[in-house]
Amino acid sequence: MESFFPKLPLAKASIHLEAGFQKCHLHPCWSCMAAKRRWLKVMVEALDSYNVVNLITESLVVFVCATTGQGDPPDNMKKFWRFLFRKSLPAGSLCRLDCAVLGLGDSSYPKFNFVAKKLHKRLLQLGATALLPVGLADDQHDLGPDGVIDPWLKTFWERAVALYPPAEGLNPLSEDDLLPPRYVVHFLDDVTENPAPQSEAMETERPKSTSQAQPFMARMVSNQRVTSASHFQDVRLIEFDIMGSDIEFSAGDVVMMRPRNCSEDVEQFCKLLRLEPSRQFTLGPAEGETVPARLPQPCTLGYLVESFLDIASVPRRSFFELLACFATNDLEKEKLREFSSAKGQEDLYSYCNRPRRTALEVLADFPHTTAELTVDYLLDLFPEIQPRSFSIASSPLAHPNRIQILLAVVQYKTTLLKPRKGLCSTWLASLDPTQGEVCVPLWVKKGTLKFPSDPDSAVIMVGPGTGVAPFRSALQQRIAQGKMGNVLFFGCRSETKDFYCRLEWEEMKQAGKLTLFTAFSQDQENKIYVQHRVKEQAALLWNLITQHNAHFYIAGNAKQMPTAVCDALKGVFQSEGGLSASQAEEMFDAMERTGRVQKDFYY
Ligand code: 2AM
Repeated sequence: MESFFPKLPLAKASIHLEAGFQKCHLHPCWSCMAAKRRWLKVMVEALDSYNVVNLITESLVVFVCATTGQGDPPDNMKKFWRFLFRKSLPAGSLCRLDCAVLGLGDSSYPKFNFVAKKLHKRLLQLGATALLPVGLADDQHDLGPDGVIDPWLKTFWERAVALYPPAEGLNPLSEDDLLPPRYVVHFLDDVTENPAPQSEAMETERPKSTSQAQPFMARMVSNQRVTSASHFQDVRLIEFDIMGSDIEFSAGDVVMMRPRNCSEDVEQFCKLLRLEPSRQFTLGPAEGETVPARLPQPCTLGYLVESFLDIASVPRRSFFELLACFATNDLEKEKLREFSSAKGQEDLYSYCNRPRRTALEVLADFPHTTAELTVDYLLDLFPEIQPRSFSIASSPLAHPNRIQILLAVVQYKTTLLKPRKGLCSTWLASLDPTQGEVCVPLWVKKGTLKFPSDPDSAVIMVGPGTGVAPFRSALQQRIAQGKMGNVLFFGCRSETKDFYCRLEWEEMKQAGKLTLFTAFSQDQENKIYVQHRVKEQAALLWNLITQHNAHFYIAGNAKQMPTAVCDALKGVFQSEGGLSASQAEEMFDAMERTGRVQKDFYY
């Protein structure tokens, strides 16, 4: 490293990473590689681990941030956000800073890239100089977010290099130059003298606190299919025991879990790369890097592949860029180069993204190159497996020391022969607590849905499919607290196949604690959806909203459903309240602003 990066007057560019990176080719190691190729020293940090006060002395900072929910900053940006918008900050505080802001968003949402736009404006207000206009990457772009990111980055690097040119005699490195890896792997050959902490050993320590850094090892109590065996969709009600932890949560919160790769994938990967799973190693970080805390030291190759490397997701463009550096076979090299070039993006999209081809499948398609890969580069090539979030479907008031989730097992076909399977849902569904103790590391986070504490406020909840999960939690909580005014609209395909939790709803109904409306879309010739039921119940809903301060919630699979339900509600305002279309719109917006309309979508 030292000889590669001699002590030069290197610029210090902090690249801050935020949520929303899964869909574009940006990746921390990509940022490092791109900067290093231009002889720029780079530091990559998540905003929650960065000391904001340091901004005053930075030279060049790139902010990459997603927008979530209703135009909100991602979780790990919230503290920074509050700090930056303090009224007491003097106007010229950041006058020495050069900056660039890249937003990651989706233009099908009303507050498209709101956070990036607001951040950019605020930085300028504080005296920073923008290297280029704010980049507004868009999931809806024909080429995905890269359609905006590519040209934005091109301009960014041109300007960054003009501002911080390499020292005399140094030229930017080409994409063919293989940069040193982020970590150096030292194999421990004497296995007996250096016993590696195995995953089980590490994880049975059961720390009490729950955070991403210290998940709680929760015992799986049950894993029960709740759709009929003949129904195509496998939905599970899974229960975890959290006794002994200090986990606290309420309705609307989410539980986080990090899945593992399945054993066939791990086996195939090790075979392709000729890795011995039981071989142990330690990681030595390159300058400026820290070893991921989640990896035990020493670690086995098997643990690294199973629990850390994301080999089952669709690889990003940076994966092809790095893979190409290892290619010795001309045909493979040419193809990999094409996939990493700007003009090869449509082909890459057809090869990888459209059919949802996994990184492992790509490796199998490039066997010569894969055989050349070295272990040192595995952490540069593959991102870390990301945690997944699930709405908690139970309340501690009804199920103390337990967390339940409703999980739809993701499986679908593309043009590829093998069906595509969701990593986390397939992994969870495969765990069988009746065959021996199964423990899953998990932690809990605040969710976006908030339920009224006022006992006199009613709730109207629209949750088709597994969208009902947070509402099951809310109903259990509200009923235990003696709160009345609970209305649920549930939609599924068929009364006999996927009407899960039916007995629970019926019990609540019979006790006079729940008003339930169901929409079984496929039990008759014409589809009946939750929005049709909302429309039918116009008088009741109008009364609850205007007389009982009702809060209205929608959760579920984000396609056309949420818009259709919102339109149905606006229709209620018109038909029952006699409002015009624009007045109904205004009333809806006002309810949304004050938290009386809340949405929680997932894809
Ligand atoms: P469908 O698949 O028969 O069309 C849970 O997934 C339920 O939501 C299913 O009954 C599904 O019906 C229904 N659904 C699908 N699209 C919808 C939409 N645009 N609005 C409301 N419900 C929808």
